[in-house]
Amino acid sequence: MKIAMLQFDPSFGETNKNLDRIQEALTGRSADLVVLPELCTTGYQFIDRAEAASLAEPADGKSAGRLAEIAGCCQAHLVAGFAEKSGGKIFNSAILVSSQGTVGVYRKVHLFSEEKNLFAPGDLGFRVFPVGNVPVGIMICFDWIFPESARSLSTAGAWVIAHPANLVLPFCQSAMVTRALENRVFTVTCNRTGQENRVEGISYRFTGSSRMVAPDGTVLAQGAAGDTEVISVEIDPDLAGNKQITKNNHILEDRRPDQYRLS
Ligand code: ACM
Repeated sequence: MKIAMLQFDPSFGETNKNLDRIQEALTGRSADLVVLPELCTTGYQFIDRAEAASLAEPADGKSAGRLAEIAGCCQAHLVAGFAEKSGGKIFNSAILVSSQGTVGVYRKVHLFSEEKNLFAPGDLGFRVFPVGNVPVGIMICFDWIFPESARSLSTAGAWVIAHPANLVLPFCQSAMVTRALENRVFTVTCNRTGQENRVEGISYRFTGSSRMVAPDGTVLAQGAAGDTEVISVEIDPDLAGNKQITKNNHILEDRRPDQYRLS
């Protein structure tokens, strides 16, 4: 399975331009799965909920259609973050699309900082979808800091976690080694680059350094902090099907829920 990450610096509010850039960057490339950043069609820093609503789209809207066309051109499935409008609410979501259209949607469960004033919290749980015969789960950015997110995906059967991100804190890239190792899954964190300072007093510098990690914690690929790049890696997904840490230790079956305090 070939997996790619396209890290770039989306222009705020310029959906068509961002989709053109995605198309241009992926033209002539092939992959089974391409992961794009969080909110990659719109940019990140909405001034208020009305602005988010004006740029949000349904999961089968125009941007989803364009992403499906791009998926068709590189014969890939794409996972892309976008602002989703559904039932009068706005979600910070990611879609999985193939050339046939939208395969699935995930809505960010753990909202970061000002996102709480803009988006409704995700209400679909942590979801796993087939890409070929590989189960792929999706989480978004700040979900990483709650180990329950990646764990929920791995107990739901994910072998690969697609992780669109707009990271601003310096911790996640290192932490993903642990998320991959403690679940024995591949993690694909595609993070944006650049800076946004659209809200008085709040300037965000996005940290790039997109990172793919193997189930044994090996860092398979890492982007630069500031560049637009497509980073591709060939993986053997079956490695994530083996949950033995030693011959006597299974990463999921050895858990002791009766000894844990979950709340
Ligand atoms: C984040 O969740 N975008 C930091």
